[in-house]
Amino acid sequence: MAAGALPPGQARPGRAIQSRIVEKYGYTHLSAGDLLRDERKRPGSQYGELIENYIKEGEIVPVEITISLLKRAMDQTMAANSQKNKFLIDGFPRNEDNLQGWNKTMDGKADVSFVLFFDCDNEICIGRCLERGKSSGRSDDNRESLEKRIHTYLQSTRPIIDLYERMGKVRKVDASKSVDEVFEKVVQIFDKEG
Ligand code: C5P
Ligand code: MG
Repeated sequence: MAAGALPPGQARPGRAIQSRIVEKYGYTHLSAGDLLRDERKRPGSQYGELIENYIKEGEIVPVEITISLLKRAMDQTMAANSQKNKFLIDGFPRNEDNLQGWNKTMDGKADVSFVLFFDCDNEICIGRCLERGKSSGRSDDNRESLEKRIHTYLQSTRPIIDLYERMGKVRKVDASKSVDEVFEKVVQIFDKEG
């Protein structure tokens, strides 16, 4: 959900943690943001401009678009290899609309084992993303978009985390630590229940 802090000069831990989970536990990593960015740049996409506007404004794209991309990626993965039915779904659900879309589309098709909550101070997240922005080419790695993203997070995403918390589904990790320290905590969680 959120990125975290590293000493200056180090990369954000997000990607490193995701690929380590994939490697160690055999999950397929699907990032809602990546899927949306791919769709945005697909020639002929009817949603390209809409997606770009939402991303720049730090707002959450209507779930019909996001869930169809996610579902297709999941279906394709399992069609290629029926054993591959464990997914690390990253950056989703981000708001009530996302959650409703998930429940509607995935009811009886997928179990949510738990929600990994990478908790991190907002300023640290902004600092990491600004650092990433030096090379990412992302249109939302700038202070203005990042502040809008934090606003969306506090207003729309936090309540979803709280809801999963009440269902006993949230596993919280302090993401302000180093990649190794964050992964160590993640391993404890996955070893127990992943
Ligand atoms: O997670 P990531 O940083 O890749 O998300 C970038 C942007 O993609 C979000 O700020 C939002 O505009 C969009 N997004 C979305 N719905 C999601 C995930 C991402 O609209 N579930
Ligand atoms: Mg992401």
